[in-house]
Amino acid sequence: MKIDELPTPALIIDLDAVERNITKMQEFVRSRGCNLRPHAKSHKSPFIARKQLKAGAIGQCCQTLLEAEALMLAGIENVLLTHNLASPGSIDRLLNLRKNGEIMVIIDGPENGEMLAKAARHRGMAADVIVEVDIGINKAGQQPGEPAAKFARWVTQTEGLRLRGIMGYEGHLQISTPSFEERKAKAQVALGGVTRTLSALSGMGIVPEIVTCGGTGTYNITAGYPGITEIQPGSYIYMDRRYGEIAPAGTDFEKAMNVIGTVVSTATPTRAVTDVGWKAVGIEYEGLGFGGMPTPLLPGLKYTPGGDEHGVLTAEDPKYRPSVGDRVRFIPAHCDTTLNLYGTFYGVRGDRVELACPVARR
Ligand SMILES: Cc1ncc(COP(=O)(O)O)c(C=O)c1O
Repeated sequence: MKIDELPTPALIIDLDAVERNITKMQEFVRSRGCNLRPHAKSHKSPFIARKQLKAGAIGQCCQTLLEAEALMLAGIENVLLTHNLASPGSIDRLLNLRKNGEIMVIIDGPENGEMLAKAARHRGMAADVIVEVDIGINKAGQQPGEPAAKFARWVTQTEGLRLRGIMGYEGHLQISTPSFEERKAKAQVALGGVTRTLSALSGMGIVPEIVTCGGTGTYNITAGYPGITEIQPGSYIYMDRRYGEIAPAGTDFEKAMNVIGTVVSTATPTRAVTDVGWKAVGIEYEGLGFGGMPTPLLPGLKYTPGGDEHGVLTAEDPKYRPSVGDRVRFIPAHCDTTLNLYGTFYGVRGDRVELACPVARR
């Protein structure tokens, strides 16, 4: 089947570009003597996870329990859930995954720690946990240094929990700082929080087996940073418009994800209406401004959302306006949220559709 025969809107993934991105990241991280545990929140697919593992990744990170279940029930045997669980039902499902391999989960306080420990004790087992450290993202996580180390020590003393390591994700420094030098300087300050936590732990006689950090925007800062054993980038696999704008990730990795739409109306000489609304492409950040909009891969056109099923292309000159029935490709502003809108992506090579792949969307 050819790409032009797909019904639209459709999500296509360039498998050749994905494979090149996988190889590039893996070889770089290996050259820094670090491990790679890619984040599956960007692909939500055992098919892509297997490609990453085959290239040398040591496991996968997941952000939702559903992603972890999708991966582990499909045979992926080593997963870290980088999201706190706070309900007995979710914890039960998490612990059930132990039958399928190694499942670790982050915790950042005694409340979710005790819930997890209680459920694990009930089963006569210990849950594998990673302590989350807030290194500047200002969301979840223990404060770096003594507070995080004391909490990690509490984990080692709590029956039903087994401390495997610490995580500090510098998510506030991924796309926010386009200049590499500036991002590097800020990331090194943030990673200082990991170093302080490790030395406080060392003072308590605790040496964590896993120290995990890093995303696509900081992959070449965190991989090789002292004490960090693995990095967890996700977006490098598909990339998107926002990541494309930052150096050097934007040029190191190829954009592999497109949304394809069809022009369904041309009511004025400068307006074309497509079937790509906000149910077909991630639209976010900066309210309804241009920042969170997808980029049409045709010249002279600006996209604005026209509702759930419509997207309006405004041509700067009538000569650029596509016609009814024309297909238009878009680079999404954000790959993760775009993927989450689709139950299936089409894997393509050149102009051919190679496969349809299910997505474990939320
Ligand atoms: C905890 C965690 N780790 C890793 C990643 C992957 O980051 P990126 O998509 O920037 O590579 C994310 C993304 O949100 C994350 O939340």
